[in-house]
Amino acid sequence: MKQTVPLIVGNWKMNPTTQSDASLLAAAVAKSQKKMSGVQVVVAPPFPYLIEVGKKISKGSLTLAAQDVHTQPLGPFTGEVSILQLKDMRVQYVIVGHSERRAMGETDELVREKVQVVLRHQLTPIVCIGERERDEQGNFFTFIERQLRSLAEVLPAAAVKKVIIAYEPIWAIGTGNTATVDDVKEMQLFIETVLTKLYDRPTAKKVRVLYGGSVRPDNAGELHQKGDMDGFLVGGASLKADDFAAIIKATVVCI
Ligand code: PGA
Repeated sequence: MKQTVPLIVGNWKMNPTTQSDASLLAAAVAKSQKKMSGVQVVVAPPFPYLIEVGKKISKGSLTLAAQDVHTQPLGPFTGEVSILQLKDMRVQYVIVGHSERRAMGETDELVREKVQVVLRHQLTPIVCIGERERDEQGNFFTFIERQLRSLAEVLPAAAVKKVIIAYEPIWAIGTGNTATVDDVKEMQLFIETVLTKLYDRPTAKKVRVLYGGSVRPDNAGELHQKGDMDGFLVGGASLKADDFAAIIKATVVCI
């Protein structure tokens, strides 16, 4: 088990559908979070709720993430959100390259441009990688390596140390098919090995890696304890304050 402070990120995706429900959820998460220490908790609400959720969590230790960002800080980009706007809303983390965005056409090149803009403005990117499916020959490892290599082409060691990688196998997202503890542990080692090859061992050790994909209260403890990840990126279960709190608690208890 990793000895770092676990990082648990709740990705609300396009939920809930009203600001009042978003405020209630934020307040409930903030309340349960107050009783816990030794864990870093982040919530990523949809853009329209960032300000309101930010107010609800302002007194606690929760921090805000955005679910995406544009590559340019300002300009004629209808419908997009800039890193400067996120910064102004006290956002500290930005999820980049979630598989649901990649499915809408986001390429590795676009993902790394977004990572660069986030780093340039001193925020922390949470970069999602993960294979669509697993094959017996292990070709999915090559796919993961390619995603990491693409980042390494533009990020020097000093920059990659500030990046958080979220390993989210697409087959596990929102499906209930959580990766096994062995799968997670193996991928943690693989990512570290690839980063060691691309950079060096001390740099690879500094990069935090999260697991995401059907993390629930009943599997969080074992995944955290034996999977050797630095925390979780949680989708569905982060929309229920009690479930999210149980996941957070499972990682704290393990320390
Ligand atoms: P899930 O989503 O926890 O609902 O599987 C994870 C994610 O997409 O970040």
